[in-house]
This record gives sequence, C-alpha cells and structure tokens, in this order.
Amino acid sequence: MKLFIAGASGATGEHVCRLAKEAGWDVHAFVRSKAAASRLDPAYEHSVGDPTDPQDVAQAMVGADAVAVCLGISRQTRSPFAKPVSPLDLTSRSVEAILQSMQSLQIRRIVYISAFGASESWSSIPWWGRAFLSLTQVRHSMIDHTRSEALLASSGLDWTALRPMMLDDSSSSDSAREMKSGDSLLKKVPREALARTVIRALNDRSTIRRPVALVP
Ligand SMILES: NC(=O)c1ccc[n+]([C@@H]2O[C@H](COP(=O)([O-])OP(=O)(O)OC[C@H]3O[C@@H](n4cnc5c(N)ncnc54)[C@H](OP(=O)(O)O)[C@@H]3O)[C@@H](O)[C@H]2O)c1
Repeated sequence: MKLFIAGASGATGEHVCRLAKEAGWDVHAFVRSKAAASRLDPAYEHSVGDPTDPQDVAQAMVGADAVAVCLGISRQTRSPFAKPVSPLDLTSRSVEAILQSMQSLQIRRIVYISAFGASESWSSIPWWGRAFLSLTQVRHSMIDHTRSEALLASSGLDWTALRPMMLDDSSSSDSAREMKSGDSLLKKVPREALARTVIRALNDRSTIRRPVALVP
C-alpha cells in the first residue's frame, strides 16, 4: 500500500513519512523543491511539484492508495504568529488539486491536518481566544483550513480532518487523542504525536467523514 504525502518536507510531514514507512506503507513524498527532495530518506519514492497544480499532483499520485496532507502556510519565522510568506490560500488550493486527482485516480482515503478553530470549531474557542486569534496572523490559517474542510466535506471521498490547537516539537511515543468535553485547549500536541495519529487514522474507519479535535 502506498501513501502519498503532501508537505512531506514539513515538521509534521517528516514524522509522517518516517512513521508511515515504519508502519509498512510505501511512501511517496511530494515536495516543492529539489533542495527539499535532497534531504529526504532515499527509502522514499518522491517527486517535486507544486501542490496547487492539478497536473503535478495527478502525475505524482499515480499508484497511491491513500493521501496524507501535511501542508501549511510558511511564515517568516517558525512562530504561527509570524507573517506568512506562502500564498494565503495554499492549503485550500492544494486540497482542490489533490481531491481532483484522487477522484480521477479513484483513490478514496485522505487524512488532512487542519487546526482547531477551523469551520464550526471556531465557536468552541472562548470569546477572548477568538478576539486574540482574529488580530493575529493565525487567522489566515483558520480561514484557509475552513475552506479546505468544506472542500473535503463536499468531495464524497473518505476524508478525516485532524484538528490540533497548538503544536510543538517535543518527541512523543504516543498518538494524540480525541478531545473530550472539559479538555484544555491550551495543551500543545507534539508534531510526532500528530503524525502517529495521521497514520492511525488512515486505518480507522470511525474517523471517516468527520473532523477529529485533538489533545495530547
Ligand atoms: N503551528 C501550530 O501550532 C499549529 C496548530 C494547529 C494546526 N497547525 C497546522 O498543522 C499543519 C502542519 O504544520 P507544520 O508546523 O508541520 O508545518 P510546516 O513545518 O510549516 O510545513 C509546511 C509544509 O508546507 C510546505 N509549503 C509551504 N508553503 C508552500 C508552498 N507555497 N508551496 C508548496 N509547499 C509549501 C512546506 O514546504 P517547504 O518544506 O519546502 O517549506 C512544508 O512541507 C499546518 O497546516 C498548520 O496550519 C499548526
């Protein structure tokens, strides 16, 4: 079984590639530059292309059985509050191209990394949190993840949108777990735990066609 990973060079995407390989998937890492490709583990199949370009995506996706999307708007620094340098509609335009390719290649399963605050989950953030986020650069990611989730929901495919609130780079041998009422929104999910959750979700039919809010 082959997993197509968009955003394979990202902080979470790198974990997803490694953990997918460990879990027995063949990995197809899709990256945007030759420089990023040169840093990939040679055990992965890879291709270089623009995730918003339907032709690049369709060519690279041939032979895949499932898709993981780990793309995110890049910023001037690693802080999610820093000014974006990627197009503000990067994730939704990529999802559009990816879904189109999946439909034409008859690939059904996609796990998408979104964010808590996208779509209807925005109203679950306390008013002071919403006020704060609306004033920061984070709002661009929320808007774009909301658009991506709407595209997934209308695709008819077997999608899952994973929604962590905040990420960090600590190491973790656990997966993230689904948020329950009363859980704190302020606890950070390690990117490695998020990546484990992506791999688990691929084979977990209970996550199909719904968003899954995550806590560590
Ligand atoms: N940071 C948080 O606290 C937080 C909280 C909740 C949800 N999230 C979401 O989690 C997801 C993953 O975050 P992350 O920190 O792992 O991401 P990341 O390390 O910033 O990786 C982003 C990926 O997107 C690619 N990318 C960016 N701009 C691109 C462009 N214009 N064209 C093609 N590819 C492009 C990057 O490629 P290069 O490697 O070539 O730059 C990289 O592979 C994001 O969607 C983010 O919104 C983050």
